[in-house]
Amino acid sequence: MPIMQLSESYLKIASNIAQKILFTLDPETAHDIAINLLSSDFVSQLLPTIDYKHDSLKTNVMGINFKNPIGLAAGFDKNARIITSMAKFGFGFVECGTVTKYSQLGNPKPRIFRLVDDQAIINALGFNNRGYYEFIKNISQQVKVADEFKCNIGVNIGKNKNSRNAIDDYTYLIDKLYDYGQYITINISSPNTPGLRDLQNDESFNVLLEEIVQKRNKVANERNITKPLVVKIAPDLDDSQIEFMADRILHHKIDGIIISNTTIGMRHELKSKNKVNFGGLSGAPLFNQSNYVLGEFYKHTKGQIPIIGAGGVFSADDAFTKIAYGASLVQIYTGFIYKGFTLVNDICKKLPKILEERGFANISEAVGHLHK
Ligand code: FNR
Repeated sequence: MPIMQLSESYLKIASNIAQKILFTLDPETAHDIAINLLSSDFVSQLLPTIDYKHDSLKTNVMGINFKNPIGLAAGFDKNARIITSMAKFGFGFVECGTVTKYSQLGNPKPRIFRLVDDQAIINALGFNNRGYYEFIKNISQQVKVADEFKCNIGVNIGKNKNSRNAIDDYTYLIDKLYDYGQYITINISSPNTPGLRDLQNDESFNVLLEEIVQKRNKVANERNITKPLVVKIAPDLDDSQIEFMADRILHHKIDGIIISNTTIGMRHELKSKNKVNFGGLSGAPLFNQSNYVLGEFYKHTKGQIPIIGAGGVFSADDAFTKIAYGASLVQIYTGFIYKGFTLVNDICKKLPKILEERGFANISEAVGHLHK
């Protein structure tokens, strides 16, 4: 049996066992254990590399080359500790964060809930993280390996709960974190930080975009390199909000949009007892709603602004659906929890076949084809 196949089988078995054990624990304890293991040199060296490559998966988005379009969504690796292990699992990119200026504990526990019958999660974490200083230390130690694996890094930034001026937090972090990763995400859509989503509204959104672009341009000038700014938005937007935001994004020449974060709606569709908990819902129930918002943004921006699709991706078919709606890249989080560490490899192996069957030579040809 070729080494690659042996590694895949070995990782699939290990991942299944790990998942069974982790699912017996409360979700946050399970997550902490997984992060501690995956960040240890011993474990990451033991991990086999399963890095499926195919020419049709290669893509250039926002001026960055991606070996494949599948990324780890923000929130899994809040403190940038497990980039090396994620690179070995074959991710085309890993978005670390959300990181804030100061370290903070987040909301009281319990604050992560599994909804197994719905293949979903509700979380109310509230940007628990160790602050930007430790984030830089962690990222710096792994940049070389990420480069070797051609795994890009996104840096997702947010505001502290008690910060008096959110825009100051974002501009401060753009400056401090500019030298790390390939793009910077401005997260204004987590439902667990009071007032954060207000930044998506009307004039607040306009002012935010103006200030972050101004800051990025200033820093880009000083450091002689321009890095893309990406805005991450909620799925809970009505049509007029979508139209307004798309217009402002075009006006300020934002480089990319992530659609979407978790939803505060949809509880009526859920089966699990845990649906009563407060927080943002992710996973399978979010799929259609995030695709709708993704499609509307693609149409309003006329495909001119690259979109990173997130929300309920559990398979290559799901990833392809996001691409059809207009995503140039796709991120996974909840699917990774339920399907295990080999999900990215499974998607990357099947996606070229789907592209071929549908008559597309590569990802970029397929982006947004549903609207054409
Ligand atoms: C998240 N997500 C998230 N997003 C973000 O921008 N910053 C963050 O810190 C977090 N934290 C976080 C924690 C947990 C436990 C979950 C489940 C999710 C949202 C995530 O990145 C993604 O946008 C959504 O979860 C939708 O994708 P999935 O999970 O349906 O694939």
